Amino acid sequence: MAEDLSIFKGSKQEQYESLIPQIEGLLLGETNLVANLANISAALKEQFNWWWVGFYWVHENELVLAPFQGPVACTRIKKGRGVCGGAWEHGKTLIVEDVEKFPGHIACSSASKSEIVVPVIKDGQIVGVLDVDSELLAHFDETDQLYLEKIVGLIP
Ligand code: SME
Repeated sequence: MAEDLSIFKGSKQEQYESLIPQIEGLLLGETNLVANLANISAALKEQFNWWWVGFYWVHENELVLAPFQGPVACTRIKKGRGVCGGAWEHGKTLIVEDVEKFPGHIACSSASKSEIVVPVIKDGQIVGVLDVDSELLAHFDETDQLYLEKIVGLIP
């Protein structure tokens, strides 16, 4: 497997379409969870250069910080707390256009303005979430939701 990512310039949809087969290649034959979450975070960061992208993983009834790319972040989030805990509690993707208007948003960084959190579901259980933060308002939409849900579905 070549470890170089080919970065595509084009529409957001085209960028995801170019990235997904490459993520499939990165995951191929690798079953280690940390390795796979680390490479997915890195691939998304390289392609989109978002402020923060990474995972929180369910451990003893909390979300615990897992592989990510970006500035240091809070390590533990309880169910129902913040955007991540909300996506976990409700079992669905949350798109927040302005984090200051989201009650209970956990500000790991004051630079973060908008956010999308996608649950990772295995055998009907939420095992973690993918969290993406942007320093731009309203950066994420249904296209991101569609493709990020596809990407977390690739995690073996
Ligand atoms: N803002 C998130 C917390 C995690 S950091 O953004 C990396 C939240 O409200 O759940």
